Amino acid sequence: MAHALRTTAEDFVEGLKSFERETITKELLRQYVDSQRLTPDALKPYTFFRDDFYTRNLIYRDDLFEVMTICWKPGQKTAIHTHNGQLGWMTMAQGEVAVHNYRYVRCNAPENQNVIGLDCLGGATEIELERLRTEECANNGCVITVDKLQTIHQIENVDPAAAGCISLHVYSKPFDSCIAFDLQKHHCYRRTLSYYSQLGKVEVEIDAPSPSRQ
Ligand SMILES: [Fe+2]
Repeated sequence: MAHALRTTAEDFVEGLKSFERETITKELLRQYVDSQRLTPDALKPYTFFRDDFYTRNLIYRDDLFEVMTICWKPGQKTAIHTHNGQLGWMTMAQGEVAVHNYRYVRCNAPENQNVIGLDCLGGATEIELERLRTEECANNGCVITVDKLQTIHQIENVDPAAAGCISLHVYSKPFDSCIAFDLQKHHCYRRTLSYYSQLGKVEVEIDAPSPSRQ
């Protein structure tokens, strides 16, 4: 299905909604996201940088899709995390990030994965993850995805440009929490996710680093 060139975040969302009548697959959305690159200017209403942490900025959400920017100053990075068994697509509008992929090998609380609506309850104290390859994701580069087979990664802004990086993320379905891994402390835990801004409005001014990070 061919799509016209989209130029605004709102057009991007409208095009996305046209898929809600179809079965969403990783490849279908990869092609759409790849063909609809948004400029930093188009994402300006959803672009906020913080010195203390990267920001998650909601552009659109319904039962099927969640669309957001993440804005990264140099050196900012996520924990190693899952995506609650959902699919995700990421492109860069500005700058370049590194995506470090991991594979779950084993843990000492596997029964905690047998839960409805969540990928895992977390709580393991022995965890073995295999570090896979790191992908570089630059503006106009490829679409980075997460899926049911490759769900664990860490994103890091390794771009020294002071302007910072802006990534655009689509998730299906939306999710409000995920598992984060602390390999130094040998544990994993369920982390609640929040937005720094929604629909262009800053939610809460964060004075201290927020515990709610992806
Ligand atoms: Fe992620």
